[in-house]
Amino acid sequence: MPGVAKELKEKIGEILFTHDQIQARIVEMGKEITEFYRKPENSDSDLVVIGLLKGSILFLADIIRHIAVPFKMDLMAVSSYSGTSSTGTIKVKKDLDFDAQGKHILIVEDLIDTGNTLAWLTNMLKSRNPKSVRIASLLDKKERRTQEVEVHFVGFECPDKFVVGYGMDFDEEYRGMPFVGVLKPEAYAHLSSKH
Ligand code: IMP
Ligand code: MG
Repeated sequence: MPGVAKELKEKIGEILFTHDQIQARIVEMGKEITEFYRKPENSDSDLVVIGLLKGSILFLADIIRHIAVPFKMDLMAVSSYSGTSSTGTIKVKKDLDFDAQGKHILIVEDLIDTGNTLAWLTNMLKSRNPKSVRIASLLDKKERRTQEVEVHFVGFECPDKFVVGYGMDFDEEYRGMPFVGVLKPEAYAHLSSKH
């Protein structure tokens, strides 16, 4: 496959969502988002689209090309993850450049797993008095949820497997793969003590 290192490709057991499937779904999601923010009650103040670093970057770059309403873009970095398991503590590593007050906020995320990150972030942003906070996530691992989060725009439901590619990493690798795949267990066995 062009553009994917053979060393990485070898460690992929299964492709869950191909590049074409992802792109087709993003076109649909863009329409859903556009329609939603065209409504008078959702377009009465600025829309700020916030990408969460680093996992959302490919999804962000693609989805913003299909959001056909005016918006400003910003990036945030929060972290709760190391290796393949959540550490449970959330830190803001990069905050917004914008003042959230009075804005319609759309958080763009790669994947919602336990919901810890987004539940925490949604609450934190709501405390800054925005008009609204909504979430668009490419993938949703619904069965893993331990914290309730309302995800307004979902690309695909994702099985309970560790996935990489299309922005998502394992120890900072695999982010550039144009598809979402599942790692073979042996590819992360050496880190299983972190589970
Ligand atoms: P949550 O707080 O448990 O919902 O997980 C938050 C973040 O962990 C997600 O946005 C991802 O960046 C990362 N994450 C969760 N599951 C996976 C996975 O299977 N592969 C790569 N990253 C993941
Ligand atoms: Mg993420």
